[in-house]
Amino acid sequence: MTSPIPPRPTIRKTIPETVPEAYRQLLSYTLIDEGRLQARIQAMGQAIARDYADKDPVFVGVLKGVLFFMADLLRATPIPLAVDFMAISSYSPESRDEGFVRITKDLDICIRGRHVLFVEDIIDTGLTLGYLLKLLASRAPASLEVAALFDRPSRRLIPIQPKYLGFHLPDLFVVGYGLDHREAFRNLPFVAVLDMEAAQNKRVHPK
Ligand code: IMP
Ligand code: MG
Repeated sequence: MTSPIPPRPTIRKTIPETVPEAYRQLLSYTLIDEGRLQARIQAMGQAIARDYADKDPVFVGVLKGVLFFMADLLRATPIPLAVDFMAISSYSPESRDEGFVRITKDLDICIRGRHVLFVEDIIDTGLTLGYLLKLLASRAPASLEVAALFDRPSRRLIPIQPKYLGFHLPDLFVVGYGLDHREAFRNLPFVAVLDMEAAQNKRVHPK
């Protein structure tokens, strides 16, 4: 008789025990813990504060992934500034052409002549960001730069270089600290690697 195939080894032990079981089952390991995230964001905020001290910039973010990063970056940047958000819905990858992003909530603030810092959670292919930067540039801001928490340059289709960057990411799907998989995991205060195989077979939320 052949012995049963042993279960796939997991390294879930780096996921804090306080994380709910429904999440733990679908996570592989902690990639960046809370302390490292916060230390890096503090440093980014200090650099931005130096560069924008007299510029009264507008921080622009896209909901919802950037929620945590925006909140922490704002608090790490002690200068006069304004903040605004956009919301988008992306069309399917098949229809990824010039107009593949639909704006569902536009900015409230007029950015003409303002110094705009686009705050982004993660730059992957760069398609979304590339489209949005073109749109914002057409509104004649005084300057337009990008602060990204994560960059995954291996998948880039559009050349975009963030002026301020938190971390480079390997080619793994990550969740937590605002980033989701099917709308779950955003509320984790750290960033973890999703167990793709487990996540394909099981959902946190059935619908
Ligand atoms: P892209 O740069 O246009 O390909 O899209 C980037 C967007 O895809 C990000 O703003 C995220 O919403 C999402 N995204 C890309 N990679 C990940 C990931 O590893 N986890 C969660 N969301 C991701
Ligand atoms: Mg996003």
